[in-house]
Amino acid sequence: MTATPLVVLENVNKHFGELHVLQDINLSVHRGEVVVLIGPSGSGKSTLCRTINRLETIDTGTITIDGQPLPAEGRGLARLRSDVGMVFQSFNLFAHKTVLQNVTLGPLKVRKTPKEQAEKRALELLDRVGIANQAHKYPAQLSGGQQQRVAIARALAMDPKVIMFDEPTSALDPEMVQEVLDVMVNLAKDGMTMVVVTHEMGFARRAANRVVFMANGQIVEENTPDEFFGSPRTDRAKDFLSKILTH
Ligand SMILES: Nc1ncnc2c1ncn2[C@@H]1O[C@H](COP(=O)(O)OP(=O)(O)OP(=O)(O)O)[C@@H](O)[C@H]1O
Ligand SMILES: [Mg+2]
Repeated sequence: MTATPLVVLENVNKHFGELHVLQDINLSVHRGEVVVLIGPSGSGKSTLCRTINRLETIDTGTITIDGQPLPAEGRGLARLRSDVGMVFQSFNLFAHKTVLQNVTLGPLKVRKTPKEQAEKRALELLDRVGIANQAHKYPAQLSGGQQQRVAIARALAMDPKVIMFDEPTSALDPEMVQEVLDVMVNLAKDGMTMVVVTHEMGFARRAANRVVFMANGQIVEENTPDEFFGSPRTDRAKDFLSKILTH
């Protein structure tokens, strides 16, 4: 990890009408760091992820990616946005395109990568997530776990500086959760900078450098996974953990 963090949020505030959904958020993510974002439903985790690649605007504060402030719009925004990969709960693959076409679309259209090169790289990435043999299938012919691995390969194909994962396994059948988490653990080991919204504590313990706990639009607590899960400091965190640990 170098001294300059890759992603820096300073005093970020956002409202949805009356709702103060992000309240003075300060968060830095270093290169190669894996941050797990955890907290009750409605606490603002998805909104925070979405502001980092500007799918949502902010009211006040600043967000910088690799030292560059996120511009409001235009070309600069498109470029910085493509530095931030996104993997959602619902995979959002194009149903009428093959796996290979889904993965090469961004590089072809946004990066203007030559087709042959984009396909070669896509096949390498599909191999990395364990589904190279599915390249010519359509999303509907794949299991949920396989589709989510395509979505990860698609994010990687843009060579992002950081990837945000918003509950990447919560729509999956239980038997498919592990194969997706394994891919994510390997990405973390390879040094990918990742922000992961998940309640999968096994993943947090295996891969996270830091757990950030949000409640009511605020960062309430942040610590190493061992410290956070082992001895949470705030009542909010204790209460939250007792609920997710017992269900
Ligand atoms: N586009 C929107 N317009 C208005 N309110 C919104 C919008 N998006 C989210 N909200 C509200 O903002 C709050 C935070 O939502 P957000 O999706 O960030 O929470 P979350 O922590 O990701 O929750 P979950 O664990 O359920 O995914 C919620 O009260 C939600 O209803
Ligand atoms: Mg959410």
